[in-house]
Amino acid sequence: MQRCRGGPAAANLWASMSTSQSTADVSVVGLGRVGLPLALSFADRGLQVIGVDNDAARLLAVREGRMPFQETGAQQLLERVHAGGRLELSERVADAARARQIVITLGTPSFSHIEIDMRDIRAALDDLLGVLTPGHSLILRSTVAPGTTDFVAGYLTKHRGFQIGEEVFVAHAPERIAAGRFLEEIDTLPCIVGGVGRRSGEVVGELFGVFGAPIVQTTPVQAELAKIWANILRYTNFALPNLLMMDCERSSANVFEVIDLINRDYPRGGIAQPGLTAGTCLRKDFAFSEERSAAPGMLLAVSRVNESVPLFLLEGIKRRLGALANRKVAVLGLAFKADTDDDRDSLAHKLIRLLERELADVAAHDPHVATPTVPFDQAVEGADAVVVATNHSEFREPRALAAIAERAAGDCLVVDPWNCWGAAQVFAYASELAALGTPS
Ligand SMILES: NC(=O)c1ccc[n+]([C@@H]2O[C@H](COP(=O)([O-])OP(=O)(O)OC[C@H]3O[C@@H](n4cnc5c(N)ncnc54)[C@H](O)[C@@H]3O)[C@@H](O)[C@H]2O)c1
Repeated sequence: MQRCRGGPAAANLWASMSTSQSTADVSVVGLGRVGLPLALSFADRGLQVIGVDNDAARLLAVREGRMPFQETGAQQLLERVHAGGRLELSERVADAARARQIVITLGTPSFSHIEIDMRDIRAALDDLLGVLTPGHSLILRSTVAPGTTDFVAGYLTKHRGFQIGEEVFVAHAPERIAAGRFLEEIDTLPCIVGGVGRRSGEVVGELFGVFGAPIVQTTPVQAELAKIWANILRYTNFALPNLLMMDCERSSANVFEVIDLINRDYPRGGIAQPGLTAGTCLRKDFAFSEERSAAPGMLLAVSRVNESVPLFLLEGIKRRLGALANRKVAVLGLAFKADTDDDRDSLAHKLIRLLERELADVAAHDPHVATPTVPFDQAVEGADAVVVATNHSEFREPRALAAIAERAAGDCLVVDPWNCWGAAQVFAYASELAALGTPS
């Protein structure tokens, strides 16, 4: 493994590689939560950027200077980039070839039967095949299953005869930034680059060197494994307290007290807190290992634990309140994690579907997501149960709990796997919370 630090010098070196046919420095294909902040950041570092997306509404928003989703600091960045005129937009993937460096940031979902779904990447590859020429680089920024980068290189050789690493460059440079922290982390997180052949790593390292973070050179498959296993580690770390939460309920134990006993002043503690664990990355990235695992089923079990949390919460409510038909349940939070507007693959939706199958009257509130929800006060008004599905900052305020106690039904059950208010109870009646000294 080699390490080097990029920076302005690397940017100049890379700029000198552009040929007279290139009208831009870098293209970013897929202006989603990864691609758009990346395209803006390249432009902000002085590169001429082509951003490609097939979603006309998304392109229109960017053209009009509106971020289509929340990302800290990105709106100001978009306005700055607009003023600088360094971002060109297109709906055609083939236009990406007007830049020497083409970064693919398309979605890579998983089929439900445990197999990476590469259809978007295959489609983009096919669109690019006819327009690639020697000197181009193709960089997979998307999260991919082990072997995908070599597949892409092989595909270009098979269909165009390119010598990868000499004429055309292919690498995996996985996105490792957490949503909401893009601009904070792009300059600092080590950028892993797994290049195919002799020179791909060097050429792609020079591109990402514009951000000044350390560039860590490795092989394509090691880059792929490092990315997916970082997410598998998080997914597994959260499954353990979630399983413990379920075990505690069966044993009439308090999960927060057990976690405190594990972690307090103990050098080998460190178990995480329970919660609803999903989102577009964690929920599917384990499958990229699972599809050809040496121990099939192990990560599937991790997934099953996290996926069972909504049912566990539902059953806990039913055990305490009885049948839920025509009872009002408020669900606070639809986003997959705190303080984001991304509710794709959030377990809150699964929880709502389960509640609706019990014929409960569900009222959801989320102050961040674009999915329509009702106002907070309306959601909790007269509720028989209130479930905190996402630990948004707004819900962690004592006044949120006070509003629940004031507006919900007298014997309202508060379900808080996140321990938002420090009451250390997954299931507690609003009256109990008041007796514990939490505001009511
Ligand atoms: N979201 C994250 O926080 C995050 C973090 C790390 C890695 N990743 C990985 O990065 C990749 C992208 O994730 P994302 O969340 O940005 O996805 P996304 O769905 O937000 O973005 C994908 C974009 O590609 C566009 N698109 C789809 N097909 C296209 C086509 N044929 N031509 C042009 N544009 C097309 C879509 O309109 C969309 O704007 C995935 O592999 C994901 O696993 C995501």
